[in-house]
Amino acid sequence: TNTDKAPYDHFMLKEIHEQPGVIRNTINQFISCESVEFACDANLFKSLTHLTIVGSGSSYMAGLIAKYWLESIANIRVLLSIASEFRYHRMQISENDVFLFISQSGETADTLAALRHAKRQNGTVISLTNVPRNSMENISDIALKISQDRKCVVAQSTYKQLFEALQCMAQHASEALVTSIEPVADLILHYNRVIIMGRGTCYGVALEAALKIRELSYIHTIGIASGELKHGSIALVDESLPVVAIAPYNETFTKNLVSIQEVSARKGMVVAFTDGKGARKLKHLCKAIVELPETNAFSLPIVYTIAAQLLAYRIAVKKGLDADQPRNLAKSVTVE
Ligand code: G6P
Repeated sequence: TNTDKAPYDHFMLKEIHEQPGVIRNTINQFISCESVEFACDANLFKSLTHLTIVGSGSSYMAGLIAKYWLESIANIRVLLSIASEFRYHRMQISENDVFLFISQSGETADTLAALRHAKRQNGTVISLTNVPRNSMENISDIALKISQDRKCVVAQSTYKQLFEALQCMAQHASEALVTSIEPVADLILHYNRVIIMGRGTCYGVALEAALKIRELSYIHTIGIASGELKHGSIALVDESLPVVAIAPYNETFTKNLVSIQEVSARKGMVVAFTDGKGARKLKHLCKAIVELPETNAFSLPIVYTIAAQLLAYRIAVKKGLDADQPRNLAKSVTVE
């Protein structure tokens, strides 16, 4: 009903705005200044050297971003698999192999089938969901979810720094909500194809941004790793194809700048998502800039994803489409 989404015009906008609160609650629930608490066995994580993350849609993109964090902070090698492809990898699985299945609903058929496949071969299975008592949780060895209190302590040396960074995440997410997105939405909506590119954790953001714009506004968007532009997609670039560069001023910036220059030299229109420092360096190369708050490495993909969600939402609304009911899509896909 209308009251449920009030004061927002759509549930999607309401849910975008709920994210800072959800982040705050989640962090408060699991993390204190001394330890991270999960409903899991600390020993499992202590001996963990590699992990395979499996998911569909946005959950897969979330896994892709988590890969950068787990590898750099926890020194765990992360493989990724799209749930519907998982069984075709035909990897040998033993109980030493740990799998993290990410699914917001815990009910996606492809993800459930992959989970069962891993489980049948005695893999150790963890599920990460946000709906209590779902199908995935029932068949997993471990569920990372709210409740229970076994402790899993991460490396103390970097803990304080990480803790402080996480503490700012909700605040940074709130700041992202007030991003001025209208001018860019007005630009993009006139095109019927768009490339979105990013590097590092922003590669995941680019994939997610492309997916959201595609599903809400039916513009043919592709998300690519910026470095892959020159390996094929650059052939598409001309005046009729805008390129959205997710380009924060961090360690990836110099390389992103080169990709942006490549697009600009071929008369492609560039729109950059960046921060103040990046904006100063990119102004002359871009048709428009979405300027986002400077933030830490953890908050960054969240902040940029929220801005991308707002962009997707605005484009859809401006095109007169119902952002809450994209055609042909189901919120929870229960067929493989
Ligand atoms: C559907 C939705 C996507 C979602 C995917 C995975 O396809 O349209 O938005 O990302 O399912 O959902 P899950 O609940 O497994 O995260």
